[in-house]
Amino acid sequence: MVVDPMNRPLGALRISVTDRCNYRCTYCMPREAFGADHPFLPKDQVLTFEEIERLARVFVGLGVRKIRLTGGEPLLRRELPDLIRELAAIPGLEDLAMTTNGALLAGMADSLRKAGLKRLTMSLDTLDPERFRKLCDTPVPLAQVLSGLEAALAAGFPPPKLNCVMQRGVNEDEVEALAAYARERGHALRFIEFMDVGTTNGWNLDAVVPSAELRARVHARWPLEPVGEPLAGRVAERWRYVDGRGEVGFISSVTAPFCGGCDRARLSAEGRLYTCLFAAEGLDLRGFLRAGHSDGEVAAVLTALWGRREDRYSELRTQATPRLPRVEMSRMGG
Ligand code: GTP
Ligand code: 5AD
Ligand code: SF4
Ligand code: SF4
Repeated sequence: MVVDPMNRPLGALRISVTDRCNYRCTYCMPREAFGADHPFLPKDQVLTFEEIERLARVFVGLGVRKIRLTGGEPLLRRELPDLIRELAAIPGLEDLAMTTNGALLAGMADSLRKAGLKRLTMSLDTLDPERFRKLCDTPVPLAQVLSGLEAALAAGFPPPKLNCVMQRGVNEDEVEALAAYARERGHALRFIEFMDVGTTNGWNLDAVVPSAELRARVHARWPLEPVGEPLAGRVAERWRYVDGRGEVGFISSVTAPFCGGCDRARLSAEGRLYTCLFAAEGLDLRGFLRAGHSDGEVAAVLTALWGRREDRYSELRTQATPRLPRVEMSRMGG
């Protein structure tokens, strides 16, 4: 087991397979910053499936038990099921999941499941088609996303978790409607506080709806009780409906940081390794691999990096920290 100076083991790896996306969510890839001339990664700078699989094996050797594929939008990466098949075969890996916007899920759910993907998480910020179009800034109709969910269930996936980024004055009026939708269909809905990831989304504290407020609203309609889970590796605080209709979660990076149990490393599409979502710099593993280093040398570099990891950005956040340089979430992986 590899442990950092704050006693946090390296337990999970989040792999971004592309920096591209077919949405331009205002809180993630605002069109002003990610327009037609945005310099996305050229193909030769993106890790190949062989490189990703090789790194994943080294990480599993160091104690990683969970891998999550992210982006950008991971389903834009060609032949993704081929990568999933290879990752699913790594001995010692216990969990293989993916976070997707769902737009392309309807056509791919079956092949993802057959390739060995275990779980899906899907973004769902609104149930209003017009609001969806504005907030996610995409020509993809909301109905297509919702049919992706149906396809996931039909393919045999457990009901995907639903991620909802809440913003003051944007979608906060839909708290109960989203909770009802998820409850009726057996999805765990997770409300995510709007975060100061990257430097282009115009984040400010006034736009954050604190989880405590959301939880009080859900509780007033359908009483909740805490699931009660240890902090290690946990992102969402989980609550269960007293009536037995499933769970709802709250991801409160702003009002209740969870750095104390953070066991997550992030590998970007270009092969940089980041030890925090809010990092400004990552370790160039692609260069290291392409220079011909062995798996043992890669493992040694990773062990040393994790051994000096002191990240706890959310715990240190102030009004001033959002101005610090940092990598965009679509580039690093969510
Ligand atoms: P499981 O526990 O594996 O089901 O997934 P998860 O809770 O990690 O889910 P997911 O990957 O969907 O994460 C949900 C959201 O939480 C992400 O999209 C981010 O917005 C946020 N998040 C995830 N990891 C971190 C983290 O390390 N730090 C912060 N601040 N936010 C995170
Ligand atoms: N704040 C909170 N969550 C975000 N995500 C993207 N940008 C932000 C942000 N600024 C989440 C989305 C999606 C996942 C990939 O990352 O909800 O589910
Ligand atoms: Fe794309 Fe997901 Fe970012 Fe939206 S949140 S722009 S769907 S990567
Ligand atoms: Fe982990 Fe950084 Fe998020 Fe804290 S802010 S939970 S250290 S990724």
